[in-house]
Amino acid sequence: MAGPKRKVYIKTFGCQMNVADSEQMALLLADEYVPTDRAEEADLYLINTCAIRRKAEEKVRSLLGSLQTLKQRRPRMLIGVGGCVAQQEGERLLAAAPHLDLVFGPHGVRRLPELVRKAVPGRRVVDIELSRGFPAQPQRHWVSGAFKTLVTIMQGCDNFCTYCVVPYVRGREYSRPSREIVAEVTDFLAAGGKEVTLLGQNVNSYGRGLAEDISFPELLRRIDALPGLARLRFATSHPRDLSKELTAAFGELPSLCEHLHLPVQSGSDRILEAMNRGYTRKEYLEKVAQLRRVCPDISLSTDIIVGFPGETEADFQQTLDLVAEAAFDQAFSFKYSPRPQTRAAALPGRVPGEVQAERLTRLQTLLNELTFNANQRLLGKVAEVLVEGTSKRSPEELCGRLRTNQVVNFSGSRELAGRLVRLQLTEAHPHSLKGTQVDDSSLPWPLAADLQAPQRRVTC
Ligand code: SAH
Ligand code: SF4
Ligand code: F3S
Repeated sequence: MAGPKRKVYIKTFGCQMNVADSEQMALLLADEYVPTDRAEEADLYLINTCAIRRKAEEKVRSLLGSLQTLKQRRPRMLIGVGGCVAQQEGERLLAAAPHLDLVFGPHGVRRLPELVRKAVPGRRVVDIELSRGFPAQPQRHWVSGAFKTLVTIMQGCDNFCTYCVVPYVRGREYSRPSREIVAEVTDFLAAGGKEVTLLGQNVNSYGRGLAEDISFPELLRRIDALPGLARLRFATSHPRDLSKELTAAFGELPSLCEHLHLPVQSGSDRILEAMNRGYTRKEYLEKVAQLRRVCPDISLSTDIIVGFPGETEADFQQTLDLVAEAAFDQAFSFKYSPRPQTRAAALPGRVPGEVQAERLTRLQTLLNELTFNANQRLLGKVAEVLVEGTSKRSPEELCGRLRTNQVVNFSGSRELAGRLVRLQLTEAHPHSLKGTQVDDSSLPWPLAADLQAPQRRVTC
């Protein structure tokens, strides 16, 4: 006789890929576990981890250490570490944490129910096998009110940028058959969904190795044609593989949002080569210029690493120059962090921590200025916002995102969560904007779809 379901708490670190994987974990465990957001009542505590920089890994280790007390109080609670740190460390994690029951890599997610059953107290389980092919995905069921979703279209990465641990912890690159992707998006739209983000480490190479003949722009066209889709996004794009056809899609596909995340990493050709990125600063800037010709309103975001081995002040200056020329709207910047197994970890010319920190501060000052300028350029405009929920700063306010990805806060009824509204942009702040709702009659989305809308609330 089936008793009440046990409870699973999932703590997620890292990128959107991990967010999608955690959702899959909950789905796969759903026959036996219900998710809880109260860690202290969990029967199963899962940590989905990120190994991209040492700091990310340290966070996991410190959380794991702190769970020792919870385990003493609840000895029957199972603790599992999944994701990229699990893949990297394997058995070593068990040795470092006697209270840990289960270690599983990104490919172990699909075997999770079986792994959890095996990991009874006193029997520890490790699954860090990296398999071939894109795995079958569990059928997703969207709760009424889900308005945006992540859809994984690829796994792994074959690029081997010399600083990056991802190819080692996520394995080889595999694309998911297009019919599965289209079917998943169709189901989501049927449930009232509005925004889809397609995920892969390098979506531009989508289709490689599949039996069908399909490119990423073709996949975008098929998804854009599905009735009901308001917003289509994707992440991440490798600049080397950004084709003319994909650039053209920004001028052609109505649902494709005017935003592209195009990680540049460095503005110095010497460093780009040492990173094995496969493009020059000139090629990158030409691609940016072409994007702006096709779609003048496009907003561009990027990732930058400072203090890569051998980076000189002159190399860093080149990065600053490129950033100013590309005029990024948003950016994430990091100090280089040596990762196990990667080629760069063995390179000479380590940049001292204090030099890295000083460069990062200078870079971030420039990036903040650019973001603020981009927000100021939007002032006075009327723009479409997808309302995501209540604002993090003030629960009295709602927040949402523009098609160009900036966050906008405004006053309005909570019932608007999940809907598209039109706002006049009235205040520009360094990392967000404020707006006021314009007349309801100008809602750009078919009202019928909007009336069935969603009550799911999130904060941003
Ligand atoms: N697949 C994505 C990025 C994944 S990691 C892509 O290619 O764009 C996200 C970002 O983390 C990278 O773009 C890079 O800027 C940063 N990163 C990766 N490895 C790093 C390291 N060893 N040290 C510092 N930053 C790193
Ligand atoms: Fe890492 Fe490069 Fe692959 Fe991105 S493309 S995941 S930075 S190896
Ligand atoms: Fe981190 Fe793994 Fe994503 S290392 S960035 S969680 S692919």
